[in-house]
Amino acid sequence: MMAWEMKDGIHNVGAVDWDRRLFDELIPLPDGTSYNAYLVRGSEKTALIDTVDPTKEDELFENLERTGVDRLDYVIPNHAEQDHSGTIPKVLERYPEAKVVTNGKCKEFLIDLLHIQDDKFQVVEDGETLSLGDRTLEFIIAPWVHWPETMLTYLREDRILFSCDLFGSHLATSDKYVKDESKVLEDAKRYYAEIMMPFRKLINGHLEKLRGYDIEVIAASHGPLYDRPESIMEAYRDWTSDDVKNEVVIAYVSMHGSTERMVERFANTLIERGIRVRPFNLAGSDVGELAMALVDAATLVVGTPTVLAGPHPAAVYAAYLANALRPKTRYATVIGSYGWGGRTVDQVKSMLQNLSVEFLEPVIVKGLPRADDMRELDRLADSILKKHQEHNIIGE
Ligand code: FEO
Repeated sequence: MMAWEMKDGIHNVGAVDWDRRLFDELIPLPDGTSYNAYLVRGSEKTALIDTVDPTKEDELFENLERTGVDRLDYVIPNHAEQDHSGTIPKVLERYPEAKVVTNGKCKEFLIDLLHIQDDKFQVVEDGETLSLGDRTLEFIIAPWVHWPETMLTYLREDRILFSCDLFGSHLATSDKYVKDESKVLEDAKRYYAEIMMPFRKLINGHLEKLRGYDIEVIAASHGPLYDRPESIMEAYRDWTSDDVKNEVVIAYVSMHGSTERMVERFANTLIERGIRVRPFNLAGSDVGELAMALVDAATLVVGTPTVLAGPHPAAVYAAYLANALRPKTRYATVIGSYGWGGRTVDQVKSMLQNLSVEFLEPVIVKGLPRADDMRELDRLADSILKKHQEHNIIGE
């Protein structure tokens, strides 16, 4: 991407990664991503906020050259993860006069992860400011908008919030600002689900703190910029709230079709009762889609056959992931088929200990489900409906 000017003296000098399809060797990126980095020039000093993934360092330097900048006074990492900070050592080689301005924890991480020398740092505290002359940067320490060392940088005079991962979306696009809002919000929701959801309550607190700032543009370090910040702020307030939707996520796998038949019957019964259903056949599902569905579903049902006395490994993976992501799900249970015995239900339950859920009576059947078994699934659907209604979880 060419460097582009957001305002006089403020450029996005980051890079779009059109081809990347996996992050952390874990998270699917169906729409690629970008690593946004921002050059902010004041009347006296110049700062670079975040850098890029090391695979894109050449683009960063080309973009910096296009802006005509010949000196950097400060490099400001909001976050130590390598997709934003991995190019700092090269930046310091190119601009040896630059100081690395960040909080104490981020400094520790950068020393460990990138071996940056201790004397290169200028440590800042929450609320501290850095003058660039006619522009002022304010640092907002915001732990766990991915890692514990994260912070946000607010450019007061221009009312721009540089938020790094927070509010980001893994979306490679030529749109500088959000144009297709529904698409960006979908990618931002995926991003939230995979990265932010485990820290929901802390992030909700950060959102409250941000109400005190007049924000004209949110410039995250992934995806297009928001020139109507309220839409993404509102979405985040919803995702991080305690509100859940009248939805059941069914994460399932079936070996010979018995569990699959149960899932079909169960899903249809839930739909008849006005409950939205999100089935994920784990044999071929994108885990990012599953994570997104867990952002606001009231209920999670794991569907699994019994294999070697326990749940199918695909179901184990899904349960492990759900447990790690800590969604606000209120109810959970297990359905599935077994051949001759096992401890499937207990094992799935024990894998969901991080969730504050009420476990509903499971439906486990021997072999191919019979009519009585199907009626048990109807009973489970009824009890989910009752729970949702009791807690005013209604609507589609
Ligand atoms: Fe985009 Fe947590 O790094």
